[in-house]
Amino acid sequence: MKVVSVVGNRPQFIKAAPLARALAPLCDHVLVHTGQHYDEELSAVFFDELGLQPPDHRIETGSGSHAQQTGSMLVGLEPVLASEQPDVVLVYGDTNSTLAGALVAVKSGYRIGHVESGLRSFDRAMPEEVNRVVTDVISDLRFCPSQVAVDNLAAEGITQGVHLVGDVMVDVAAQFGPLARRRSTILERLSIEPQGYTLITVHRQSNTEAAALGALVEMLESIEGPLVFPLHPRTESALSRRGLLERAERAALVTPPLGYLDFTALLASARVCLTDSGGVQKEAYLQSVPCLTLRDTSEWVETIELGWNRLVAMDPAAVAKALAEIRTPAEHPPLYGDGHAADRIAELVAAPVP
Ligand code: UD1
Ligand code: UDP
Repeated sequence: MKVVSVVGNRPQFIKAAPLARALAPLCDHVLVHTGQHYDEELSAVFFDELGLQPPDHRIETGSGSHAQQTGSMLVGLEPVLASEQPDVVLVYGDTNSTLAGALVAVKSGYRIGHVESGLRSFDRAMPEEVNRVVTDVISDLRFCPSQVAVDNLAAEGITQGVHLVGDVMVDVAAQFGPLARRRSTILERLSIEPQGYTLITVHRQSNTEAAALGALVEMLESIEGPLVFPLHPRTESALSRRGLLERAERAALVTPPLGYLDFTALLASARVCLTDSGGVQKEAYLQSVPCLTLRDTSEWVETIELGWNRLVAMDPAAVAKALAEIRTPAEHPPLYGDGHAADRIAELVAAPVP
Protein backbone atom coordinates (compact mmCIF):
# COMPACT_ATOMS: atom_id res chain seq x y z
CA MET A 1 0.00 0.00 0.00
CA LYS A 2 1.31 3.42 -0.93
CA VAL A 3 0.28 6.77 0.53
CA VAL A 4 1.48 10.09 -0.89
CA SER A 5 1.38 13.17 1.36
CA VAL A 6 1.32 16.49 -0.48
CA VAL A 7 2.73 19.30 1.67
CA GLY A 8 4.03 22.75 0.89
CA ASN A 9 3.64 25.20 3.78
CA ARG A 10 4.91 25.63 7.31
CA PRO A 11 1.77 24.31 9.07
CA GLN A 12 1.62 21.33 6.70
CA PHE A 13 5.15 20.17 7.51
CA ILE A 14 4.12 20.32 11.16
CA LYS A 15 0.86 18.39 10.58
CA ALA A 16 2.58 15.76 8.41
CA ALA A 17 5.19 14.91 11.06
CA PRO A 18 2.95 12.74 13.28
CA LEU A 19 1.31 11.22 10.19
CA ALA A 20 4.69 10.16 8.79
CA ARG A 21 5.48 8.52 12.10
CA ALA A 22 2.11 6.72 12.29
CA LEU A 23 2.09 5.62 8.65
CA ALA A 24 5.66 4.28 8.58
CA PRO A 25 4.87 0.81 9.98
CA LEU A 26 1.70 0.43 7.90
CA CYS A 27 2.58 1.47 4.35
CA ASP A 28 5.01 3.03 1.94
CA HIS A 29 4.71 6.77 2.68
CA VAL A 30 5.96 9.13 -0.02
CA LEU A 31 6.35 12.83 0.73
CA VAL A 32 5.85 15.44 -1.99
CA HIS A 33 6.86 19.09 -1.32
CA THR A 34 5.09 21.56 -3.59
CA GLY A 35 7.70 24.27 -2.95
CA GLN A 36 5.09 26.84 -1.88
CA HIS A 37 7.22 27.65 1.18
CA TYR A 38 10.90 27.44 0.29
CA ASP A 39 12.86 29.60 2.76
CA GLU A 40 14.84 27.61 5.31
CA GLU A 41 12.86 29.22 8.17
CA LEU A 42 9.50 28.27 6.66
CA SER A 43 10.45 24.82 5.43
CA ALA A 44 13.73 22.98 6.18
CA VAL A 45 13.72 23.84 9.89
CA PHE A 46 10.53 21.83 10.43
CA PHE A 47 11.93 18.74 8.70
CA ASP A 48 15.00 18.92 10.94
CA GLU A 49 13.26 19.64 14.21
CA LEU A 50 10.27 17.32 13.83
CA GLY A 51 12.16 14.44 12.23
CA LEU A 52 10.10 14.53 9.06
CA GLN A 53 11.62 12.47 6.27
CA PRO A 54 13.16 14.53 3.43
CA PRO A 55 10.74 15.02 0.51
CA ASP A 56 10.85 12.23 -2.07
CA HIS A 57 9.78 14.76 -4.71
CA ARG A 58 10.01 18.51 -4.76
CA ILE A 59 8.20 20.81 -7.15
CA GLU A 60 9.68 24.28 -7.53
CA THR A 61 6.45 26.25 -7.28
CA GLY A 62 7.58 29.30 -5.32
CA SER A 63 5.52 32.43 -4.76
CA GLY A 64 3.04 34.08 -7.11
CA SER A 65 -0.60 34.94 -7.58
CA HIS A 66 -3.16 32.31 -6.60
CA ALA A 67 -3.55 31.25 -10.23
CA GLN A 68 0.18 31.10 -10.94
CA GLN A 69 0.91 29.23 -7.76
CA THR A 70 -1.95 26.74 -7.95
CA GLY A 71 -1.51 26.23 -11.69
CA SER A 72 2.19 25.57 -11.34
CA MET A 73 1.50 23.00 -8.60
CA LEU A 74 -1.13 21.23 -10.71
CA VAL A 75 1.30 20.89 -13.62
CA GLY A 76 4.11 19.77 -11.32
CA LEU A 77 2.11 17.32 -9.25
CA GLU A 78 0.41 15.42 -12.07
CA PRO A 79 3.50 13.52 -13.33
CA VAL A 80 4.72 12.92 -9.78
CA LEU A 81 1.48 11.24 -8.75
CA ALA A 82 1.40 9.34 -12.05
CA SER A 83 4.88 7.98 -11.32
CA GLU A 84 3.98 6.98 -7.77
CA GLN A 85 0.50 5.50 -8.44
CA PRO A 86 -0.64 6.00 -4.82
CA ASP A 87 -3.56 4.21 -3.20
CA VAL A 88 -4.33 7.34 -1.19
CA VAL A 89 -3.22 10.98 -1.50
CA LEU A 90 -3.21 12.83 1.81
CA VAL A 91 -3.67 16.60 1.81
CA TYR A 92 -3.50 18.85 4.87
CA GLY A 93 -5.40 21.93 5.95
CA ASP A 94 -6.50 24.65 3.59
CA THR A 95 -3.70 26.15 1.54
CA ASN A 96 -3.12 26.31 -2.20
CA SER A 97 -0.96 23.19 -1.82
CA THR A 98 -3.97 21.39 -0.30
CA LEU A 99 -6.23 22.39 -3.18
CA ALA A 100 -3.67 21.51 -5.86
CA GLY A 101 -2.94 18.10 -4.34
CA ALA A 102 -6.64 17.29 -4.09
CA LEU A 103 -7.47 18.48 -7.62
CA VAL A 104 -4.70 16.48 -9.27
CA ALA A 105 -5.61 13.41 -7.21
CA VAL A 106 -9.31 13.51 -8.04
CA LYS A 107 -8.71 14.03 -11.77
CA SER A 108 -6.17 11.22 -11.81
CA GLY A 109 -8.53 8.85 -10.00
CA TYR A 110 -6.70 8.48 -6.67
CA ARG A 111 -8.48 8.36 -3.33
CA ILE A 112 -8.05 11.52 -1.26
CA GLY A 113 -7.74 11.84 2.49
CA HIS A 114 -8.19 15.36 3.89
CA VAL A 115 -6.50 15.97 7.22
CA GLU A 116 -8.28 18.81 9.07
CA SER A 117 -11.53 18.43 7.19
CA GLY A 118 -14.77 20.28 7.91
CA LEU A 119 -13.43 23.57 9.24
CA ARG A 120 -15.30 26.63 8.05
CA SER A 121 -15.03 30.38 8.55
CA PHE A 122 -18.09 30.90 6.32
CA ASP A 123 -16.16 33.69 4.62
CA ARG A 124 -15.52 32.89 0.98
CA ALA A 125 -13.42 36.02 0.55
CA MET A 126 -10.76 34.04 2.41
CA PRO A 127 -8.70 31.98 -0.05
CA GLU A 128 -8.40 29.23 2.55
CA GLU A 129 -12.20 28.86 2.82
CA VAL A 130 -12.48 28.15 -0.90
CA ASN A 131 -9.62 25.66 -0.66
CA ARG A 132 -11.33 23.85 2.23
CA VAL A 133 -14.77 23.67 0.70
CA VAL A 134 -13.49 22.33 -2.63
CA THR A 135 -11.11 19.87 -0.99
CA ASP A 136 -13.82 18.50 1.30
CA VAL A 137 -16.25 18.00 -1.58
CA ILE A 138 -13.79 15.91 -3.60
CA SER A 139 -12.22 13.94 -0.74
CA ASP A 140 -13.00 10.31 0.03
CA LEU A 141 -11.75 10.23 3.62
CA ARG A 142 -12.47 13.31 5.69
CA PHE A 143 -10.55 13.49 8.95
CA CYS A 144 -12.24 15.97 11.28
CA PRO A 145 -10.53 17.51 14.30
CA SER A 146 -13.77 18.31 16.15
CA GLN A 147 -17.50 17.61 16.31
CA VAL A 148 -18.09 21.13 14.97
CA ALA A 149 -16.17 20.14 11.83
CA VAL A 150 -18.31 16.99 11.46
CA ASP A 151 -21.45 19.12 11.84
CA ASN A 152 -20.22 21.64 9.26
CA LEU A 153 -19.82 18.85 6.72
CA ALA A 154 -23.26 17.43 7.57
CA ALA A 155 -24.79 20.87 6.99
CA GLU A 156 -23.34 20.72 3.46
CA GLY A 157 -24.80 17.25 2.97
CA ILE A 158 -21.44 15.47 3.41
CA THR A 159 -21.83 12.48 5.72
CA GLN A 160 -19.92 9.70 3.93
CA GLY A 161 -16.26 9.06 4.75
CA VAL A 162 -16.40 11.47 7.68
CA HIS A 163 -14.24 10.48 10.66
CA LEU A 164 -13.91 12.35 13.94
CA VAL A 165 -10.27 11.64 14.78
CA GLY A 166 -9.08 14.68 16.74
CA ASP A 167 -6.44 17.17 15.72
CA VAL A 168 -2.96 16.15 14.60
CA MET A 169 -1.51 19.36 16.03
CA VAL A 170 -2.42 18.05 19.47
CA ASP A 171 -0.26 15.03 18.61
CA VAL A 172 2.63 17.31 17.63
CA ALA A 173 2.24 19.38 20.79
CA ALA A 174 2.28 16.21 22.92
CA GLN A 175 5.29 14.77 21.09
CA PHE A 176 7.41 17.94 20.86
CA GLY A 177 6.12 20.30 23.59
CA PRO A 178 8.38 18.83 26.32
CA LEU A 179 11.38 18.95 23.97
CA ALA A 180 10.62 22.60 23.17
CA ARG A 181 10.57 23.48 26.86
CA ARG A 182 13.86 21.63 27.47
CA ARG A 183 15.80 22.69 24.43
CA SER A 184 14.69 26.18 23.41
CA THR A 185 16.70 29.15 24.68
CA ILE A 186 14.49 31.74 22.97
CA LEU A 187 13.46 33.56 26.17
CA GLU A 188 17.10 34.02 27.19
CA ARG A 189 18.05 35.09 23.67
CA LEU A 190 15.34 37.75 23.68
CA SER A 191 15.98 38.72 27.34
CA ILE A 192 12.35 38.23 28.33
CA GLU A 193 10.73 36.57 31.33
CA PRO A 194 8.00 33.91 31.42
CA GLN A 195 4.57 35.62 31.63
CA GLY A 196 6.31 38.95 31.00
CA TYR A 197 5.57 39.50 27.30
CA THR A 198 2.93 39.39 24.59
CA LEU A 199 3.39 37.29 21.44
CA ILE A 200 1.99 38.37 18.09
CA THR A 201 1.88 36.73 14.63
CA VAL A 202 0.23 38.17 11.51
CA HIS A 203 0.27 36.82 7.96
CA ARG A 204 -3.32 36.59 6.69
CA GLN A 205 -3.88 38.13 3.23
CA SER A 206 -6.54 40.53 4.56
CA ASN A 207 -4.23 41.76 7.34
CA THR A 208 -1.30 42.44 5.03
CA GLU A 209 -3.19 44.60 2.56
CA ALA A 210 -2.37 48.32 2.54
CA ALA A 211 -5.45 49.33 4.53
CA ALA A 212 -4.64 47.02 7.45
CA LEU A 213 -0.90 47.69 7.75
CA GLY A 214 -1.12 51.19 9.21
CA ALA A 215 -3.50 49.91 11.87
CA LEU A 216 -1.17 46.98 12.55
CA VAL A 217 1.78 49.29 13.25
CA GLU A 218 -0.35 51.63 15.37
CA MET A 219 -1.54 48.63 17.32
CA LEU A 220 2.04 47.42 17.89
CA GLU A 221 2.93 50.90 19.15
CA SER A 222 -0.04 50.98 21.50
CA ILE A 223 0.64 47.68 23.31
CA GLU A 224 2.74 47.81 26.43
CA GLY A 225 5.91 45.77 25.83
CA PRO A 226 7.73 43.56 25.60
CA LEU A 227 5.94 42.44 22.46
CA VAL A 228 7.52 39.60 20.47
CA PHE A 229 6.72 39.52 16.77
CA PRO A 230 8.12 36.64 14.67
CA LEU A 231 7.63 38.08 11.23
CA HIS A 232 6.19 36.03 8.36
CA PRO A 233 7.89 37.00 5.06
CA ARG A 234 4.57 38.08 3.54
CA THR A 235 4.12 40.59 6.35
CA GLU A 236 7.75 41.66 6.29
CA SER A 237 7.66 42.49 2.59
CA ALA A 238 4.26 44.23 2.91
CA LEU A 239 5.55 46.42 5.78
CA SER A 240 8.81 47.07 3.98
CA ARG A 241 7.07 48.08 0.72
CA ARG A 242 5.09 50.73 2.59
CA GLY A 243 8.04 52.00 4.65
CA LEU A 244 6.53 50.70 7.91
CA LEU A 245 9.05 48.03 8.84
CA GLU A 246 11.28 50.27 10.97
CA ARG A 247 8.30 51.49 13.00
CA ALA A 248 7.29 47.88 13.61
CA GLU A 249 10.85 47.05 14.69
CA ARG A 250 10.89 49.96 17.15
CA ALA A 251 7.56 48.89 18.66
CA ALA A 252 8.23 45.15 18.98
CA LEU A 253 11.00 42.58 19.32
CA VAL A 254 10.83 41.52 15.69
CA THR A 255 12.39 38.14 14.91
CA PRO A 256 12.61 36.07 11.74
CA PRO A 257 10.05 33.25 11.48
CA LEU A 258 10.96 30.80 14.23
CA GLY A 259 11.33 27.05 14.24
CA TYR A 260 8.64 24.95 15.93
CA LEU A 261 10.61 24.43 19.15
CA ASP A 262 11.40 28.11 19.71
CA PHE A 263 7.90 29.20 18.73
CA THR A 264 6.28 26.63 21.01
CA ALA A 265 8.48 27.66 23.93
CA LEU A 266 7.66 31.31 23.30
CA LEU A 267 3.93 30.66 23.11
CA ALA A 268 3.92 28.48 26.23
CA SER A 269 5.30 31.29 28.41
CA ALA A 270 3.47 34.23 26.82
CA ARG A 271 1.06 36.28 28.93
CA VAL A 272 -1.23 36.60 25.96
CA CYS A 273 -1.11 35.87 22.26
CA LEU A 274 -2.42 38.00 19.37
CA THR A 275 -2.64 36.22 16.06
CA ASP A 276 -4.48 35.74 12.79
CA SER A 277 -3.09 32.21 12.39
CA GLY A 278 -5.38 29.22 12.52
CA GLY A 279 -2.77 26.95 14.05
CA VAL A 280 -1.56 29.46 16.62
CA GLN A 281 -5.11 30.08 17.94
CA LYS A 282 -5.44 26.39 18.61
CA GLU A 283 -1.95 26.01 20.08
CA ALA A 284 -2.61 28.96 22.40
CA TYR A 285 -5.62 27.04 23.71
CA LEU A 286 -3.57 23.85 24.11
CA GLN A 287 -1.00 25.80 26.15
CA SER A 288 -3.73 27.61 28.17
CA VAL A 289 -2.62 31.01 26.86
CA PRO A 290 -5.41 33.57 26.32
CA CYS A 291 -5.66 34.57 22.67
CA LEU A 292 -6.98 37.55 20.73
CA THR A 293 -7.65 36.65 17.11
CA LEU A 294 -7.14 39.58 14.74
CA ARG A 295 -9.89 38.55 12.35
CA ASP A 296 -13.67 38.73 11.84
CA THR A 297 -14.09 34.96 11.88
CA SER A 298 -12.46 31.86 13.27
CA GLU A 299 -12.65 28.18 12.41
CA TRP A 300 -11.78 27.24 16.00
CA VAL A 301 -15.09 28.39 17.43
CA GLU A 302 -14.92 26.16 20.50
CA THR A 303 -12.01 28.21 21.88
CA ILE A 304 -14.11 31.36 21.51
CA GLU A 305 -17.20 29.83 23.12
CA LEU A 306 -15.12 28.84 26.15
CA GLY A 307 -13.67 32.35 26.49
CA TRP A 308 -10.02 31.45 25.79
CA ASN A 309 -10.08 33.21 22.44
CA ARG A 310 -11.77 36.39 21.24
CA LEU A 311 -12.16 37.98 17.82
CA VAL A 312 -10.85 41.54 17.69
CA ALA A 313 -10.55 44.02 14.86
CA MET A 314 -7.10 45.24 13.87
CA ASP A 315 -7.67 48.49 15.70
CA PRO A 316 -5.52 49.86 18.56
CA ALA A 317 -8.49 50.92 20.71
CA ALA A 318 -10.35 47.61 20.26
CA VAL A 319 -7.21 45.62 21.05
CA ALA A 320 -6.42 47.75 24.13
CA LYS A 321 -9.96 47.19 25.43
CA ALA A 322 -9.79 43.44 24.77
CA LEU A 323 -6.38 43.17 26.46
CA ALA A 324 -7.72 44.94 29.54
CA GLU A 325 -10.69 42.56 29.66
CA ILE A 326 -8.73 39.30 29.41
CA ARG A 327 -9.61 36.78 32.11
CA THR A 328 -8.43 33.19 32.29
CA PRO A 329 -11.53 30.96 32.06
CA ALA A 330 -11.95 28.21 34.64
CA GLU A 331 -12.83 25.50 32.12
CA HIS A 332 -10.23 23.93 29.84
CA PRO A 333 -11.62 20.69 28.35
CA PRO A 334 -9.67 18.65 25.76
CA LEU A 335 -11.44 20.09 22.71
CA TYR A 336 -9.37 18.54 19.97
CA GLY A 337 -8.70 14.96 20.94
CA ASP A 338 -6.23 12.95 22.95
CA GLY A 339 -3.01 13.29 20.95
CA HIS A 340 -3.59 10.11 18.90
CA ALA A 341 -5.30 11.59 15.84
CA ALA A 342 -2.47 10.53 13.52
CA ASP A 343 -2.74 6.87 14.63
CA ARG A 344 -6.47 6.88 13.87
CA ILE A 345 -5.92 8.48 10.48
CA ALA A 346 -3.16 6.00 9.60
CA GLU A 347 -5.41 3.05 10.48
CA LEU A 348 -8.27 4.41 8.40
CA VAL A 349 -5.98 5.16 5.46
CA ALA A 350 -4.42 1.69 5.56
CA ALA A 351 -7.76 -0.13 5.95
CA PRO A 352 -9.04 -2.05 2.91
CA VAL A 353 -11.48 -0.05 0.77
CA PRO A 354 -15.02 -1.18 1.68
C1 UD1 B 1 0.16 30.39 2.97
C2 UD1 B 1 -1.28 29.89 2.91
C3 UD1 B 1 -1.98 30.21 4.24
C4 UD1 B 1 -1.18 29.64 5.40
C5 UD1 B 1 0.26 30.11 5.35
C6 UD1 B 1 1.06 29.45 6.42
C7 UD1 B 1 -2.42 29.94 0.73
C8 UD1 B 1 -3.41 30.67 -0.09
N1 UD1 B 1 -2.03 30.56 1.86
O1 UD1 B 1 0.12 31.79 3.13
O2 UD1 B 1 -3.26 29.62 4.24
O3 UD1 B 1 -1.78 30.09 6.59
O4 UD1 B 1 0.82 29.77 4.07
O5 UD1 B 1 2.18 30.19 6.76
O6 UD1 B 1 -2.02 28.87 0.39
N2 UD1 B 1 7.46 33.98 0.96
C9 UD1 B 1 8.81 33.99 1.21
N3 UD1 B 1 9.42 32.79 1.42
C10 UD1 B 1 8.77 31.60 1.38
C11 UD1 B 1 7.39 31.61 1.11
C12 UD1 B 1 6.76 32.81 0.91
O7 UD1 B 1 9.46 35.03 1.24
O8 UD1 B 1 9.40 30.54 1.61
C13 UD1 B 1 6.79 35.30 0.77
C14 UD1 B 1 6.63 35.69 -0.68
O9 UD1 B 1 6.77 37.07 -0.77
C15 UD1 B 1 5.19 35.31 -0.95
C16 UD1 B 1 4.51 35.56 0.38
O10 UD1 B 1 5.49 35.22 1.35
O11 UD1 B 1 4.62 36.06 -2.00
C17 UD1 B 1 3.25 34.74 0.59
O12 UD1 B 1 3.54 33.35 0.46
P1 UD1 B 1 2.38 32.33 0.05
O13 UD1 B 1 2.90 30.94 0.15
O14 UD1 B 1 1.76 32.74 -1.24
O15 UD1 B 1 1.27 32.57 1.13
P2 UD1 B 1 1.36 32.66 2.72
O16 UD1 B 1 1.04 34.04 3.14
O17 UD1 B 1 2.64 32.08 3.18
N1 UDP C 1 4.96 28.64 13.84
C1 UDP C 1 6.32 28.47 13.91
N2 UDP C 1 7.12 29.59 13.87
C2 UDP C 1 6.61 30.84 13.76
C3 UDP C 1 5.21 30.99 13.68
C4 UDP C 1 4.41 29.87 13.71
O1 UDP C 1 6.81 27.35 14.02
O2 UDP C 1 7.39 31.80 13.73
C5 UDP C 1 4.11 27.44 13.84
C6 UDP C 1 3.03 27.41 14.89
O3 UDP C 1 3.50 26.80 16.06
C7 UDP C 1 1.93 26.60 14.21
C8 UDP C 1 2.13 26.87 12.74
O4 UDP C 1 3.44 27.41 12.60
O5 UDP C 1 2.12 25.23 14.44
C9 UDP C 1 1.10 27.84 12.22
O6 UDP C 1 1.44 28.23 10.94
P1 UDP C 1 0.94 29.57 10.28
O7 UDP C 1 0.55 30.54 11.31
O8 UDP C 1 1.98 29.97 9.31
O9 UDP C 1 -0.30 29.07 9.41
P2 UDP C 1 -1.84 28.77 9.69
O10 UDP C 1 -1.93 27.85 10.84
O11 UDP C 1 -2.52 30.08 9.90
O12 UDP C 1 -2.28 28.15 8.41
